[in-house]
Amino acid sequence: MPTATINRTETESVAPGATPLLDVKGVTLQYKTKKQIVTASYQVDFQVFPGDRFVLLGPSGCGKSTLLKGVGGFMSPVEGEINLNGKPVHAPGPDRMMVFQEFEQLLPWKTVLENVVFPMVTSGKYARAEAVDRAKRYLEKVNLTKFFDAYPHQLSGGMKQRASIARGMAMGPAILLMDEPFAALDALTRLKMQEELLELWEELRFTVLFVTHSIQEAVIIGSRILVLSPHPGQVRAELNAQQFNHANQDCAEFHALQQRIHDMLFAERIDAMGQHHGE
Ligand SMILES: Nc1ncnc2c1ncn2[C@@H]1O[C@H](COP(=O)(O)OP(=O)(O)OP(=O)(O)O)[C@@H](O)[C@H]1O
Ligand SMILES: [Mg+2]
Repeated sequence: MPTATINRTETESVAPGATPLLDVKGVTLQYKTKKQIVTASYQVDFQVFPGDRFVLLGPSGCGKSTLLKGVGGFMSPVEGEINLNGKPVHAPGPDRMMVFQEFEQLLPWKTVLENVVFPMVTSGKYARAEAVDRAKRYLEKVNLTKFFDAYPHQLSGGMKQRASIARGMAMGPAILLMDEPFAALDALTRLKMQEELLELWEELRFTVLFVTHSIQEAVIIGSRILVLSPHPGQVRAELNAQQFNHANQDCAEFHALQQRIHDMLFAERIDAMGQHHGE
């Protein structure tokens, strides 16, 4: 267990509403293996409001994916609580759709359309005819109209990601959970996918909890950013990034925020090393 709690040094992010959609309160998440207990995130607090593009940012191993698993209901906190719409999260549900870090997330033996239809029907949330309608609508939104009948192996990486996003969105979740969805893409495709996600957001104003370890991506994608310390992840700061996008990424304010986050993460690493040497 960590010896000291890092105080949240900066909380300037302005919550846009009074009632949070997602309320994460003092959450500690652990993995228990035969040999040891690994604390992945420690007493983490944050609130996500409807329409937020809320980013969890931090170095590899700081527990970002673990927090997402907690919100997804795949893992229970050992301390604290996670509430969605005022109700505690106990198990996975169609109100929280996950777009995973792993590259291959579509079923290879099903067409693109059937991949999107499948979870809507099997979850019992939509009847087949309505599910097909919704699937087509969302695939159109992500520019895959011509690929309804294609199989995943016939798509490029970026197209597979778009199909996965359409699949998540078509379920009509309360919140979309995205774990480094663009990490495996080349720089140009990644840029395009970021732009597409923001365009889709402009149109649909969904709520997304987005994980990344790229400062630049966090500033571009996020309306609010939670900066996490290295392992075990604790909240370092919560920042506003509402006004930043690709178009203004060369402006001084964008660079200043990037630098500030960089310094924050870097200082944390030195602190951690100092603590380590002092032990
Ligand atoms: N299944 C598991 N069993 C035991 N320990 C685990 C397991 N999964 C993750 N961990 C540990 O929990 C900590 C947090 O892992 P997590 O995957 O949440 O980090 P992350 O911030 O998502 O990192 P990355 O940016 O590399 O994806 C790490 O120390 C990791 O080794
Ligand atoms: Mg991860």
